[in-house]
Amino acid sequence: MTVIPTVLAPCKRKPATDTFFHDVVQGLTAQQKYLDPKYFYDATGDMLFQQIMQCHEYYLTDCEMEIFRNQSADIVTALQHYAGIFDVVELGAGDATKSVHLLQQLIDNGIDYTYFPIDISGNVISQLEQSLPEKVPGLQLHGLHGEYFQMLQQANKYSSRKKVLLFMGANIGNFSVSAAQNFCRQLRQYLQPGDMLLTGFDLKKHPQIILNAYNDAAGITRAFNFNLLHRINRELGANFDTTKFEHFPTYDPASGACKSYLISLENQQVHLGDTVSIPFKENEALYMEISQKYSLEEADQLAAFSSFKPVARFFDSKHWFTDCLWKCI
Ligand code: AVJ
Repeated sequence: MTVIPTVLAPCKRKPATDTFFHDVVQGLTAQQKYLDPKYFYDATGDMLFQQIMQCHEYYLTDCEMEIFRNQSADIVTALQHYAGIFDVVELGAGDATKSVHLLQQLIDNGIDYTYFPIDISGNVISQLEQSLPEKVPGLQLHGLHGEYFQMLQQANKYSSRKKVLLFMGANIGNFSVSAAQNFCRQLRQYLQPGDMLLTGFDLKKHPQIILNAYNDAAGITRAFNFNLLHRINRELGANFDTTKFEHFPTYDPASGACKSYLISLENQQVHLGDTVSIPFKENEALYMEISQKYSLEEADQLAAFSSFKPVARFFDSKHWFTDCLWKCI
């Protein structure tokens, strides 16, 4: 007689950990080994990224902050001109320190709108729900925590107004050019003609300035990269020895691709739990992250490719960074 088990083996890991494990194994068994930079941001990674943003070499945050601090009135004028009545949705809202200037300006102009911050971290959203209405009195806020596209769908359910979508911080740079094309096309499918997208691009500039931003003297960016190995050790039971890897940031001024790698310093085996073993050769590169830099023409091409029309651009005083306003066509 066959015995039919009535109790299924309990799932040992949380579903999120399963996805993390799956993605890490997929990356480490690929021809060119890689890790997904979205996994940088655990509690320590969030803290290290805060420190990166305060490094003097890392100019991006200061540049975009300058734009929002000084030009929010101009941005709002453009939004009213092109969109009329709208709600504001922000992808990867974080602590909203830059967008807060825009949100305040909208209130100052007497515009009736709801702010829908989207973030993958529930923690981020509950903090925003607590702190933002204090910082911006009168703000109507509806936080959404989850994946970008799913939450965008939610926002469309809750709001019947046009959408002004914010995608700031040069987060688009974390995609290769072709991945950014796919992303923008997909994004466009969740929007309607007349909706707007405000995206931050880090611009091509002297290559040394860019390389230094990803190779700070204090070694915080290095620690930020190694933190992902520590996270994999902790959460997936791996045994990366970070002393056997070297942080290797690169920038190619022709393509605008700023890529960071961890280089294996010797032949070694890394284990994930007791089921997976990953061989690294001496000098083999583990690809960690791309931070793609754009020219204005390349940013416009991305808009055209994904059925947006560029309508306005906002720059910092050094012209190192731009926030581009695109209209859905
Ligand atoms: C958050 C993706 C915009 O690429 O500049 C900073 C992340 N990595 N230093 C960037 C990052 C290393 C950052 N983004």
